[in-house]
Amino acid sequence: MNDTTAPAVEPMTLKIGDPAPDFTARTTQGALSLSGLRGGWVVLFSHPADFTPVCTSEFMAFAKAADRFAALDCRLVGLSIDSLPSHLAWVEAIRSCFGVDIPFPIIEDPSMAIARAYGMLDAHAHSSATVRGVFVIDPQGFIRAINWYPASVGRSVPELLRLVTALQVVDREGVMTPEGWTPGADVVVASDLTQDAVSKAGPAWFLQYAKMPRS
Ligand code: BEZ
Repeated sequence: MNDTTAPAVEPMTLKIGDPAPDFTARTTQGALSLSGLRGGWVVLFSHPADFTPVCTSEFMAFAKAADRFAALDCRLVGLSIDSLPSHLAWVEAIRSCFGVDIPFPIIEDPSMAIARAYGMLDAHAHSSATVRGVFVIDPQGFIRAINWYPASVGRSVPELLRLVTALQVVDREGVMTPEGWTPGADVVVASDLTQDAVSKAGPAWFLQYAKMPRS
């Protein structure tokens, strides 16, 4: 049975700021519609295949960090083109071999409709495996960050937590976050581009730090 639906979108065309293509799909936790998750943040991540070492290590790291994503009102949603029975067997194997429960849904995408809509298929691979794509989707359903990793390199779950946290601070406080920012560290603010503002800020007008919270 294939009840996955997604709009036809040219592959690899999604950009930051685009609306995330909606879909309805079967998952390890029942049917899921992306639009049903509106109002909260979503990290939608694809992986090449079930029962593979890098993917298994990533899934266990996501599982261990699930409470921290939940505290950010952020839902984790995994995806690969593998079948639902394969996902279920893999989740059960992870539980029995490593004692880790996977608390988030994993989408099956046998028709590759979602993988195509999000450009997750590796055009250079011999198989139709999805690459390691991550889409951070905001509560209004817009794509706020995208990252791609090759099959051979595992992603950093702490970095994804940091990314979601930074996006939320940026939205809430109207600031930007500098390289390697972590919660509690100074943020950066853009200087007004007027002669007065630039002269008041001094020669380093182009990099102004600000304390958080801003008063
Ligand atoms: C892995 O997750 O370990 C993996 C997946 C696809 C190809 C190679 C490695």
